[in-house]
Amino acid sequence: MNLHPQDFLLFVDVLRRESGLVLDPGQEYLLKSRLMPVADRHGVDNLEGIAREIRMGSPDMLRDVVEAMSTHETSFFRDLLPFRQLQDKVLPALMRTRDDKALRIWSAGCASGQEAYSLAMLLHDMGIAHQGWKYDILATDISHQVLEKAKAARYTAFEAQRGVPAPTLLRHFTRMDEQWAVKPHIRDAVKFRQLNLLDGAGHLGRFDLILCRNVLIYFDAATRLSVLSDLRSCLNRDGVLLLGAAETPPAEAAGLKLLDGVMGGYVRGGGE
Ligand SMILES: C[S@@+](CC[C@H](N)C(=O)[O-])C[C@H]1O[C@@H](n2cnc3c(N)ncnc32)[C@H](O)[C@@H]1O
Repeated sequence: MNLHPQDFLLFVDVLRRESGLVLDPGQEYLLKSRLMPVADRHGVDNLEGIAREIRMGSPDMLRDVVEAMSTHETSFFRDLLPFRQLQDKVLPALMRTRDDKALRIWSAGCASGQEAYSLAMLLHDMGIAHQGWKYDILATDISHQVLEKAKAARYTAFEAQRGVPAPTLLRHFTRMDEQWAVKPHIRDAVKFRQLNLLDGAGHLGRFDLILCRNVLIYFDAATRLSVLSDLRSCLNRDGVLLLGAAETPPAEAAGLKLLDGVMGGYVRGGGE
């Protein structure tokens, strides 16, 4: 069944408004493949039925549509290079300028938690707690569903082994039947919280390091700029924002400048 153009436009509007996701003409197939399971769960026949419920104002349907259309692809130590850069350059530089020996870190758009737990493993293995350092890692996502998985901290063998070297796996995970559970010393270092980046983040306070990787790529230019400006205002004066290496954000317009020698790294530009 072809999707009625009016229904397609409804999905385009709703997704842009609710999560910033941009859906282009020709992506009807994506709606179909992602939303048919939602239709089944809600007992409606097709996308037309979903659109009807959204028009009638069903908050459950709206939430499920936003969740299903978001891409939650992630992995432990994803892309590896950013974590090497953090260990070798970014974290040592931050630590040189902090007399209070405290770091606040935010994984924005954390999906099912692998990025935040990778940070916790990295910091643990750098041994900075033994040098008197304290760190808080906050991890947020728009999706309740992925946050439940993140908090449960259990991963399939494929998810756990993908990107985690065997010694790290044995140090920080416990095998439980078919799954791998993150050990408490890593799990307890991360706090998860639901947050839509479109709603602003000023109330979270300031951070020394923000990772927002592979999130802005789904937004249109205006949304990208406004979220970036917001992230900038959440950075401490010399704090670092790390985006995905292949992302080309409107950094200057958002008051950010590239951090020399750190791929995907940005710091606050001039002005307040
Ligand atoms: C592709 S994943 C990236 C996960 C992780 N940062 C990484 O790079 O591996 C993108 C995540 O951004 C979240 N997201 C999308 N729109 C969002 C929004 N408006 N506010 C907060 N999170 C959002 C999605 O739910 C998804 O879990």
